Amino acid sequence: MKKIISVVGARPNFMKVAPIHRAFQKYKDSVQHLICHTGQHYDERMSKVFFDDLELPKPDFYLGVGSGSHAEQTAKVMMEFEKVLLQEKPDMILVVGDVNSTIACSLTAAKLHIKVVHVEAGLRSFDRKMPEEVNRVLTDAISDYLFVTEKSGLENLEHEGVDGSKVFFVGNVMIDSLVYYLDKTNGRTVLKDYGLEPQNYILVTLHRPSNVDSKEQLTKLIAMLERLSGERKVIFPIHPRTRKNIAEYNLLDERNSNLILTDPIGYIDFLTLTKNAELILTDSGGIQEESTYLGVQCITLRTSTERPVTVEVGTNQLLGNDLNKAEQAALEVLNGKKKEGQIPELWDGKAAERIVSILVEKLS
Ligand code: UD1
Repeated sequence: MKKIISVVGARPNFMKVAPIHRAFQKYKDSVQHLICHTGQHYDERMSKVFFDDLELPKPDFYLGVGSGSHAEQTAKVMMEFEKVLLQEKPDMILVVGDVNSTIACSLTAAKLHIKVVHVEAGLRSFDRKMPEEVNRVLTDAISDYLFVTEKSGLENLEHEGVDGSKVFFVGNVMIDSLVYYLDKTNGRTVLKDYGLEPQNYILVTLHRPSNVDSKEQLTKLIAMLERLSGERKVIFPIHPRTRKNIAEYNLLDERNSNLILTDPIGYIDFLTLTKNAELILTDSGGIQEESTYLGVQCITLRTSTERPVTVEVGTNQLLGNDLNKAEQAALEVLNGKKKEGQIPELWDGKAAERIVSILVEKLS
């Protein structure tokens, strides 16, 4: 019996590991697939609700590391994950995405000579000020098998000298979850609960340090949302980091009924909101991809994207930190100027099956 441990830590990891876990069930007589939750995200609404929505089993290991500075968080994950690896001696570990738990666990495993699998490898924003970019570059450099979601990833890894025999273009596991759960959105009441009509509201998410840690930038963003809420209802599920800064900078009273502020929302309700939005404003990575798959208009409030296919092929517009431009583009979308898009290659709901069949072969 072979053993592989997949790592989840932060919110965007859960929907990526769920289809991989499902795909491994087919091989459960020969491969034991275990899940380790680092506890980087720990609030019920940032973590538990995703296990429920995505039908993930209770994690086999919970490291409980919580928040801290980058060094503290990364170091704590490494110390706790090392104990798990020494005890369990897996044949491989699998990490997804680009969060601190991703690099912490891959580095720990690589030093113990345990094979590292990186799913969502090769993405590059070319902005080393983003903590995620550092995590991506380093994780890819020490991974043994690299699974890529879009062609840009292949080129980036080739430029960095990664041996092509370790790299596989398989599509997007996050889209696997979307495809799997899309039907479930039909029964949800979340639009009604917030008084929203399909195709007639703006969905907003903001949590990047570059947008929400600077008082000046966050003040401008909130003022823009206030203005846009004069055009359409705006729903803004607020990430804990953003919530903390809004309170600290004293930026929002919740009296404008067209600007709906909520706690973070679970996977299927959020997918329902994404699917039915007229426009999305975001600085998330994953939402750029989900909106592209669904053909929903998306304006990304960042200067770079590590997911260029969403701009080249999909419905995403990258509008940087120039909020005048972003607001102008938002108004144009609301006035009917829509960007046509297509679904990127291999985003077909079967990426996890491809990954798992390759890994099972490598393990045998
Ligand atoms: C992390 C990821 C980011 C990802 C995001 C999704 C890194 C470097 N960043 O950023 O790539 O897009 O998750 O959400 O790994 N907090 C809570 N409850 C929680 C989790 C966090 O209150 O369950 C608060 C804490 O005050 C914490 C802050 O949010 O200090 C930031 O959390 P952290 O995990 O450090 O980074 P994120 O900003 O969530």
